[in-house]
Amino acid sequence: MPALAALAADLDALAQNSRRRTLAPRTGLDFASNDYLALAGHPRLAAAMIRALEAGVPIGSGGSRLLRGNHDAHVALEEAAARFFGSEAALFFSTGFAANACFFATVPQRGDLILYDALSHASVHEGLRLARAAHRAVPHNDAGAFDDALREWREAGGVGTPWIAIESLYSMDGDRAPLADLARIAARHEAMLVIDEAHATGVFGEGGRGLAADIPPEARVTLHTCGKAMGVEGALLACPALVRDFLVNRGRAFIFSTAPSPLIAAAVAEALAILADEPERRARLHALIAHAEAALAPCGVAPTGSQILPVVLGDDARAMAAAARLQAAGFDVRGIRPPTVPAGTARLRLSLTLNVDTADVDALAASLKEALA
Ligand SMILES: Cc1ncc(COP(=O)(O)O)c(C=O)c1O
Repeated sequence: MPALAALAADLDALAQNSRRRTLAPRTGLDFASNDYLALAGHPRLAAAMIRALEAGVPIGSGGSRLLRGNHDAHVALEEAAARFFGSEAALFFSTGFAANACFFATVPQRGDLILYDALSHASVHEGLRLARAAHRAVPHNDAGAFDDALREWREAGGVGTPWIAIESLYSMDGDRAPLADLARIAARHEAMLVIDEAHATGVFGEGGRGLAADIPPEARVTLHTCGKAMGVEGALLACPALVRDFLVNRGRAFIFSTAPSPLIAAAVAEALAILADEPERRARLHALIAHAEAALAPCGVAPTGSQILPVVLGDDARAMAAAARLQAAGFDVRGIRPPTVPAGTARLRLSLTLNVDTADVDALAASLKEALA
């Protein structure tokens, strides 16, 4: 058998199920990116990088943060992020995927319990594969089920720390976690909340600080990815200083990896400043969300109150055919299939950003109606 035959067979099987993926160029109106506030092209981000370059900041970090890779730009960013997100400390990672994977593989200890929402992101699952702690999925957004699972675990003799892993705003459904209920439950069971704010950061909460800012900082760890509303890349884990120190000492993906570019750290720091300085961007996005919810309602798109609007079509092939029709009409809309979403819930994921305006949304609504007919 040829050396790579098993890979070819696997790809063939994906194709048979309409699940084989390819890398498509970016064309058409942006209804697919996570550049919610259109910061990726903001002149202030470009200017911040040019300023840093001219001041002698190197392009590459040159090594792990624990060796010579640690740069003032990383430290300054982490200090600014801790102030911004109201946490004791923050740690910068090259991606949100790495941050989640590193956190769950490292911080929860043997004897702890990780309860995670059934719709948690793939990066959480990656960390769970390596985790020392026991872990269990809980039905999506079911606060009572988290409560019951914690009580049962305590009654069965669980004495470690329970960790509740959720997203504040779910990436593929656009709905929110019942944060106030979960915070009460966490306090009752002395659990820590680990809240992935990937899609809420910059868009929700005072000054774009996310939805978890009101939870006491000692009871939460929040993840703020920097490649979505912040328009750059990387991720900031906002956490107690002890957790940061533990990750610096024990987090293998942090320790044994080249530090992110200090230029990127400078750009992310500028993005935080833009979130604070330009609240009108958030206001414009929220107005666009309200407009889109009204314009898309006749197509059967349920409002989510967020910039993520799923159009669940069920069948993988149907979702991909609808996406192809919209792409041909000039709209960058992507079909999302399992395993990214549960089987039988293939969908179009409409994402609203300031890269489009209300007229674009109206045009999309007209084409969506035809694509679904
Ligand atoms: C909820 C959630 N968490 C984490 C990530 C990973 O972040 P990054 O794209 O920075 O790796 C994503 C991105 O897809 C996400 O949607």
